[in-house]
Amino acid sequence: SLLIFWNTPTTAQVTIEAQPTKVSEGKDVLLLVHNLPQNLIAYIWYKGQKTDFRHYITSYVIDAETIIVGPAYSGRETVYSNASLLIQNVTKNDTGSYTIQMIKQGDKTKGVIGHFTLYPELPKPYITSNNFNPMENKNDVSLTCVPKTQGYTYVWWVNGQSLPVSPRLKQPGKNRILILANVTRNTGPYECEIRDRVGSICSDPIILDVL
Ligand SMILES: *[C@@H]1O[C@H](CO)[C@@H](O)[C@H](O)[C@H]1NC(C)=O
Ligand SMILES: *[C@@H]1O[C@H](CO)[C@@H](O)[C@H](O)[C@H]1NC(C)=O
Ligand SMILES: *[C@@H]1O[C@H](CO)[C@@H](O)[C@H](O)[C@H]1NC(C)=O
Repeated sequence: SLLIFWNTPTTAQVTIEAQPTKVSEGKDVLLLVHNLPQNLIAYIWYKGQKTDFRHYITSYVIDAETIIVGPAYSGRETVYSNASLLIQNVTKNDTGSYTIQMIKQGDKTKGVIGHFTLYPELPKPYITSNNFNPMENKNDVSLTCVPKTQGYTYVWWVNGQSLPVSPRLKQPGKNRILILANVTRNTGPYECEIRDRVGSICSDPIILDVL
């Protein structure tokens, strides 16, 4: 799935709203443009933050009611007369910023720019173990949080309490494996959580069957 994160420009009152705000791969997203300025002659959508020809997706010329497509057009984008952009069958490649440039009458060089960014949504993690049936006070158990990704911070939860993390393991990609020495009965459930700069998601809890 993909999660949409907004980056609103400070200089423009134009806002862009994504519908839905969370979009899964293969689904469609509509970028609604609000507070359109008056006296526009065209809108141009770009992939990324640069308004150069290479990133030109599509444009709408208001008087002529004409749609023009550019080099960054994938065949899945539709610009409407109200400037909104529909992106169909969203892929991971669609992640990143989008810029809308609004061409005003008598002022061809300046446009109004808005951005939004698609971020991949975190996958739900799960826990694997070297031993789900350890002997009480005899076996060390390691729990591993899957998936392994350098960009995530891993946090372990035991019985609803997050475990403190040593500074060494606080960096993203570390703390993925939890070692339990001499496990006893009645501990757990265990959960692992992954975090990135957009959000966080927890695994289902697991309970060890201590013999
Ligand atoms: C613009 O047009 C699209 C497609 O017809 C529509 O879904 C959307 O609600 C319209 N409004 C805005 C504010 O973009
Ligand atoms: C979106 O995907 C469906 C199913 O794969 C396909 O039939 C449809 O043509 C695609 N639409 C666009 C605009 O690519
Ligand atoms: C994503 O982009 C890469 C590199 O440009 C390309 O090889 C790949 O086919 C693209 N995937 C999709 C699903 O569009």
